Amino acid sequence: MALDLFSPTKLGAISLKNRIVMAPLTRSRAPKETGVPQDLNVTYYQQRASAGLIVTEATPISAMGHGYILLPGIYTKAQVAGWRKVTDAVHAAGGKIVLQLWHVGRISHPSLINGALPVAPSAIKPAGQAFTYEGLVDFVEPRALEASEISAIVQEYVHATKCALEAGFDGVEIHAANGYLLDQFLRDGSNKRTDNYGGSVENRARLLMEVTKAVVDVAGADKTGLRLSPVNPFNDMQDSNPQALFNYVAGALNQFNLAYLHVVEGGMDGDMGSFDFVQMRKQFKGSYMANFGYDKARGNAAIASGHADVIAFGVPFIANPDLVERYKTDAPLNEADANSFYGGAEKGYTDYPFLNA
Ligand code: PHB
Repeated sequence: MALDLFSPTKLGAISLKNRIVMAPLTRSRAPKETGVPQDLNVTYYQQRASAGLIVTEATPISAMGHGYILLPGIYTKAQVAGWRKVTDAVHAAGGKIVLQLWHVGRISHPSLINGALPVAPSAIKPAGQAFTYEGLVDFVEPRALEASEISAIVQEYVHATKCALEAGFDGVEIHAANGYLLDQFLRDGSNKRTDNYGGSVENRARLLMEVTKAVVDVAGADKTGLRLSPVNPFNDMQDSNPQALFNYVAGALNQFNLAYLHVVEGGMDGDMGSFDFVQMRKQFKGSYMANFGYDKARGNAAIASGHADVIAFGVPFIANPDLVERYKTDAPLNEADANSFYGGAEKGYTDYPFLNA
């Protein structure tokens, strides 16, 4: 029989009961002062444990990694204890869950990071506004990281990975997409450095490779995934030659034997232009997680054709905790309410009905 969304599989060391992955989704429902996951967050993730794999919301690896309000973190003991309740609940419900490691770089604001200036590869202010506790505020010009500061950033990824393992996650996903710190280094619209971390494609990919090596050394390659978004202009991103850049990155990642490569195959505010995802996918020898606007039919087709091994669904999982059952039975889907994506409490978070509820 042909493979489809309901076929079990393995991503590295992680066994999945199906190929339907819950994509990482910022929901801004953690407490402001501590970033410690609460019972409400436990309920939300446990409700979705029938996914073959859950990728958590993007989670700051350090105080400087924050760029939005009400984010959970993964760098204090209390956060580890909070996440432990999430992983225990997901595991008790028969699910698997990996934590997405996040540093936002320049997509922040001093008011979110104790008055500090956001850091970036280069001192280039992104167009747009930060979501702060005081409302939307223009981004500021970030501070270019000194080469001597880079090893401390890598160490933040190491610390957060240790915290994630201690919290009981099945693995970690390195967030190198969507205009945040690692993506800011990759793309030449945001990286104008003249040292070893800028210029050539190899140099722009250096920080990503250093972070990946460091995370793999702690978690094991078979428990480490990585997410890229080659054509997403979100967060004021540009690159002069995305195909060359991301073909190179996909190929260079083969040295690690990662559990999977996760690719956002589109742009959140429109595409940056033509890009051949099939060509990029061919550079990568491991498992491939496809994401961006997939539905059941397109997901099944991508798996049957061999383009993707698993499919990550975002918005459908916000509105349908039992998305797997609904796809399996061709049941109608609940509509997602965009007004309750970020912030608030149960409404639009844990109160979407299950089938036969
Ligand atoms: C968001 O909060 O809007 C957000 C967070 C992480 C992403 C993309 C968007 O990767």
